[in-house]
Amino acid sequence: MLGRAAIAATLCIASAALADGDAEKGHAVFHTQCAICHRITPDGAKSIGPNLFGVVGRKSGTLAGYSYSSAMKASNLTWNDATLEQYLPAPMKLIPGIKMTYAGLKNPAQLADLIAYLNTAK
Ligand code: HEC
Repeated sequence: MLGRAAIAATLCIASAALADGDAEKGHAVFHTQCAICHRITPDGAKSIGPNLFGVVGRKSGTLAGYSYSSAMKASNLTWNDATLEQYLPAPMKLIPGIKMTYAGLKNPAQLADLIAYLNTAK
């Protein structure tokens, strides 16, 4: 089992990698991986999934006008670098029962770039 120090060290490495994310590259990742189901526009327009404009800092399952699954509504997360980094590689594993039928983004560099991009959409 990992001790607390080891976990903290792992988290530090993860945030260092995230800090290196390239938002411009992340924009391209968004278009290939997410745009089929998500819009990311200030008007908040929904698609198959909720609009992701301003998603960083938002409480999960709370965008008005979108009909979330009860699993997402009950998930009680705040979307930030750490929660997105856990969620996006395996969404249905982190929150079983959600209706985001996306297998996950496993590539760590693409993930860091994508999260950097999501941080700019506000
Ligand atoms: C196949 C369609 C689909 C794809 C592809 C997809 N999503 Fe989703 N996403 C959804 C749906 C549907 C929901 C709502 C889930 C629910 O209510 O259970 C959702 C929810 C979310 C949420 C929670 C938003 C909130 O308001 O709480 C985030 C964050 C998210 N998606 C990010 C992404 C990102 C980033 C990508 C690209 C890597 C992506 N999604 C790809 C369909 C998709």
